[in-house]
Amino acid sequence: MLGDVSGRSILDLGCGTGGKLAELARDGAVASAGVDIAGNFISSPPVGVELIRGDLLDPGALPELSGRTFDRILFLQSFGYAVDPVRTLRSAQAMLKPDGFILLTRTQPIRYAVERAEQHGTTLGEEYFHRADYTYRAGWNENIKLTKRTYTMSDLLNVFSAAGLWIESASEPQLTPEAARRYPHKQAWMNKHLGILIFKLRPLAPF
Ligand SMILES: C[S@@+](CC[C@H](N)C(=O)[O-])C[C@H]1O[C@@H](n2cnc3c(N)ncnc32)[C@H](O)[C@@H]1O
Repeated sequence: MLGDVSGRSILDLGCGTGGKLAELARDGAVASAGVDIAGNFISSPPVGVELIRGDLLDPGALPELSGRTFDRILFLQSFGYAVDPVRTLRSAQAMLKPDGFILLTRTQPIRYAVERAEQHGTTLGEEYFHRADYTYRAGWNENIKLTKRTYTMSDLLNVFSAAGLWIESASEPQLTPEAARRYPHKQAWMNKHLGILIFKLRPLAPF
């Protein structure tokens, strides 16, 4: 969905180590930047990649990004950390070059509903529509508890609308038949949890 990135500038919000952005630079991306609050970056990013420690809440307000615009803006499994999601999307949208787009991935909300239904002995629908925050022990460290805001598909779509964006396309990636054969445990996980959603978002054209 990202397409050919050669000659494209990319802003990766919640970029983690910046490793994915470095790969995109190797594929030809230019004048790119990554932002992450943890600041735990790869030690020598390639030429054309700047890694910035900062909050994705209002990317346009980050001094390092002042006046800059990008062809592609990415939120790869990071959008859930935006405390004011509409504000974040509006701010990101203002940094798009003409004909630029936002690529945003989000976990299927049904995944969390399945987990909570198993944990609480309830039903999928009860958990999917439950509005309270959800706290659970991290799978990778039993001393750490994570709290997530629950959301439904409608919540997500309404955020895009409120931010003045339209969905050019959406995708729910699946394993290829060959990958499913090679990694049956991953296919079993997907069968139960569905995976992620990917949205390609563009600003609404002014009337
Ligand atoms: C699930 S990881 C995804 C990392 C990367 N995008 C990837 O696809 O591998 C979420 C990232 O968001 C970052 N993050 C969390 N809250 C943030 C915030 N308020 N501002 C910027 N980054 C944040 C975390 O530090 C973490 O690196």
